[in-house]
Amino acid sequence: MTDQNLAVIVLAAGQGTRMKSARPKVLHSIAGRTLVGHVLSTARDLAPSHVIAVVRHERDAVVSTISELMPDILFVDQDDIPGTGRAVEVAIGALPADFDGDVVVVSGDVPLLDATTLASLIAEHRRADASATLLSAILDDATGYGRVVRDSAGVLDRIVEQKDATQTELEITEINSGTYVFRASALREQLPLVTLANAQGEKYLTDVIGLLRSAGSTVSALPVRDGWMVAGVNDRVQLAEASRRMNELIVRRWQLDGVTITDPATTWIDADVVLAEDVEVLPGTQLKGATLVQRGATVGPDTTLVDCEIGENATVKRTDATLAVIGAGASVGPFAYLRPGTYLGADGKIGTFVETKNSTIGTGSKVPHLSYLGDTTVGEHSNVGAGTITANYDGVNKSATVVGSHVRTGSHNVFVAPVTIGDGAYTGAGTVVRKDVPAGALAITVAPQRNMEGWVQANRAGTAAARAAEAAE
Ligand code: UD1
Ligand code: CA
Repeated sequence: MTDQNLAVIVLAAGQGTRMKSARPKVLHSIAGRTLVGHVLSTARDLAPSHVIAVVRHERDAVVSTISELMPDILFVDQDDIPGTGRAVEVAIGALPADFDGDVVVVSGDVPLLDATTLASLIAEHRRADASATLLSAILDDATGYGRVVRDSAGVLDRIVEQKDATQTELEITEINSGTYVFRASALREQLPLVTLANAQGEKYLTDVIGLLRSAGSTVSALPVRDGWMVAGVNDRVQLAEASRRMNELIVRRWQLDGVTITDPATTWIDADVVLAEDVEVLPGTQLKGATLVQRGATVGPDTTLVDCEIGENATVKRTDATLAVIGAGASVGPFAYLRPGTYLGADGKIGTFVETKNSTIGTGSKVPHLSYLGDTTVGEHSNVGAGTITANYDGVNKSATVVGSHVRTGSHNVFVAPVTIGDGAYTGAGTVVRKDVPAGALAITVAPQRNMEGWVQANRAGTAAARAAEAAE
């Protein structure tokens, strides 16, 4: 149910200079989702009546990513005045004038914060009837963050930014997470009073805290239990740390949901992946995008699946696959390369050193060894011989190969597309199939073998081969 008294402002206008990237910071990803995507997903869980994103740097890229994830979000462009305070000020201006509920402010670069923590911050803010409640954290290394300054009675006094702090203030280990709940009216009253008189020449949102305190309003800072939850991502080192932490949370959640994960340290699972009970994930495996693995399937070791669907009790070993659908009980790998549009039926097999693309292999059919199938349909219970290549590209067009059901093709065939091999047909070893093969026929390319007796002794005299031949005679 929507909370009519709640608005969320997502700050996403900054450049992210420390990332040293052409891409805006909030569009860097962890667990297969952009940083701002994680923040939006948390915001959505709060069911606010308004969500506003403040944008400026690389505006169009940020807007297009965000609106895909949350089509009904409102975008506000920050003007030339820099700083988080200005960002919130322009956002507040976009809220209905009669909105007098609470405003949650979150940063687009703080991806690990969860909705439960945020919900308890809101609850405490409302319980205390406060003007502002901010989430703080006690960190071993507070470098870079704004510090929480408390008075002698321990009451929140103000926030001081790293660059404006005195030596004594720098020793404070309680930091501002950049996550707040404000009463809307408090922001409307105080933000116009914030100046740019600080080391960075920016309008700091954090100054609102000090102003509210001076005005005698209730403000408080609540330390979060796990400091990592509010870690901001400002450079690539922090990006990797946040990525590892998020992965730990995801792996642990699936373990508790009944998935065996042998080595969490080398298993990477994206946020949108879905795993059923009794799935087994072996070391060195990356499950990405919208991958879905059904009950009892085993994936890995050393496997990367992007947007794949793996059926019940299937096995996928040392495989790289994208947009592939694997049927129940089927087996893939080791060393298989499945490109988009690969469909393997129930109990089918795509074996060792096999590449597939835009191909459907029916129930119980097998492509066991050293093959390439492109733009191919194989019926049910057929076997494609070792070393078979579909010649699907004539340099201009891609053409289709159709193999029927209960077909047995020989080793080292070339299927020159477009070509059809009928149900129950056979082909001999080394056949180049250029013409359609009728159902039940045996196709062979006749190239008779000629043996030139004594050739080795005559032409390679004195070699080990010649001596071996002599000894055999
Ligand atoms: C901010 C806080 C600091 C806190 C830290 C927590 C201020 C002044 N400082 O510092 O107290 O410890 O977050 O991570 O708020 N942004 C805009 N418009 C701007 C500037 C920034 O939308 O003009 C956005 C950024 O895109 C980012 C967020 O605001 O998502 C925070 O900005 P950033 O520059 O990273 O602030 P910090 O220096 O980390
Ligand atoms: Ca930051």
